[in-house]
Amino acid sequence: MRNIEIFDTTLRDGEQTPGVNLNIQEKIEIAKQLERLGIDVIEAGFPATSKGDLEAVKQIAKTVKHSSVTGLSRAHRSDIDAAWEALRVSREPRLHLVIATSPIHMTYKLRKTPDQVLETAVASVRYAKKFFPKVQFSAEDASRSDWAFLAKVIEAVIASGADVVNLPDTVGYATPLEYGRLFQYMLEYVPNIHKAKLSAHCHDDLGMAVANTLSAIEAGAQQVEGTINGIGERAGNASLEEIAVALKIRQDFYQAETRLNLKEIKRSSDLISKLTGLSVQANKAVVGKNAFAHESGIHQDGVLKEKSTYEIITPEMVGVSTSSIVLGKHSGRHAFKTKVEAMGFELDEAALNEAFRAFKALTDRKKNVTDDDIFTILTDRQTASPDVKKYELVSVQVQYGTNHTPTATVALISPDGQRLEDAATGAGSVEAIYNTLGRMIGGDVYLEDYQLKSIGAGRDALAEAFVRIKRDDVTSGGRATNQDVLEASARAFLDAVNRTLGRERVDQEQIQI
Ligand code: KIV
Ligand code: ZN
Repeated sequence: MRNIEIFDTTLRDGEQTPGVNLNIQEKIEIAKQLERLGIDVIEAGFPATSKGDLEAVKQIAKTVKHSSVTGLSRAHRSDIDAAWEALRVSREPRLHLVIATSPIHMTYKLRKTPDQVLETAVASVRYAKKFFPKVQFSAEDASRSDWAFLAKVIEAVIASGADVVNLPDTVGYATPLEYGRLFQYMLEYVPNIHKAKLSAHCHDDLGMAVANTLSAIEAGAQQVEGTINGIGERAGNASLEEIAVALKIRQDFYQAETRLNLKEIKRSSDLISKLTGLSVQANKAVVGKNAFAHESGIHQDGVLKEKSTYEIITPEMVGVSTSSIVLGKHSGRHAFKTKVEAMGFELDEAALNEAFRAFKALTDRKKNVTDDDIFTILTDRQTASPDVKKYELVSVQVQYGTNHTPTATVALISPDGQRLEDAATGAGSVEAIYNTLGRMIGGDVYLEDYQLKSIGAGRDALAEAFVRIKRDDVTSGGRATNQDVLEASARAFLDAVNRTLGRERVDQEQIQI
């Protein structure tokens, strides 16, 4: 059985999804969950892009003990220096160095000749090796590169000390057969290839990211990269949970295994979906709401007689719990603490007390508090970034009547501590609230997306609102939960605004790779 290392880039390639802007606490929470899942390498960010990213990578490198932590760097000394500053504290500092090797990228983006790219790649690996014990080299757009040239680059970077060589299908262009052949070719024609590990990194533009990754494994890749839930730019990256479960279920075929604890998959998926605001489609393999639901009569009949007729993955295998112990008004602190720990959260005394208070407040309004509600209480607490002053909602009131124009009246505390009050109308209640908030906050605010859903079932279920706004050209996502849909909507909008406040200008320009 071959061991396949799993490299997670949810916090780097995944965070590049438009409207996703995680704060540092959220990134740490995700990194801790990835560590629990058993990820071998966590790509925590791109330190050269901003001070905020550098700090987040540094905090994650300090926190995570059982996974390797890496950060992305272009083939520039200043990027490598920024990455070293962030990662020197980690258990096993590892750099992820990238430069493009395809004719399109070299000509139009880098404006470099192939020889210049080769020279820059070698010089950067040599420089990086002065600091980092482990260096991964990625040949961006490898699948559209000239294979002979790519082989030359790979041989040279391995000779200069690269420990891992990644061949990304950056634009999701390759087909499974072709991508597998790329790996076979490099294994055959790069003389020193045995001195490095080969890694696959696939994007899903043509819906083939997971298939391409599995094909690379068949062809000899020893590491694979991707994100939880397949999040990422455009159509996203390969879904790591799908790859891991495919290797497990079809071990007979692939003869390969990973170090992942599959029972942590569902929790990882839920956490990332919650914190990024990117919902998982119901029919998504492995983690979708319907992945284990059998609707048709024939299927139900078959599953009742013998599960294996229609079920190749059990919900338990990926941590989908079929029973949920419900807490309520009479549940005490001890029961709550036990539940929180069973759900995988580690809270200090102060955080536990605060969460318990929120839980108690909820039990006054909601008869049965489910795992989903508790998950929400625990993850909601992370939306606040304590170091940034922000807008606080004092009150929101809406007058609505079938034959009246909705009017919202809002009171806020501004980041500089002033109390603000205003009222405005809208075609609907939410629009009235957003018109009022937009006027109070100022700037040009455009609502790009708005979603509302219930947490679980029942008329007293919590409402969860997600918004994506564009404020003065900065896109930002926000979320909030509340028992009232209008208050959840108002708070989500403010969360999105607040997340733009501490952000540096450089983030908006997004340093190009
Ligand atoms: O898709 C890509 O090519 C990347 C590289 C930075 C590895 O994300
Ligand atoms: Zn990528």
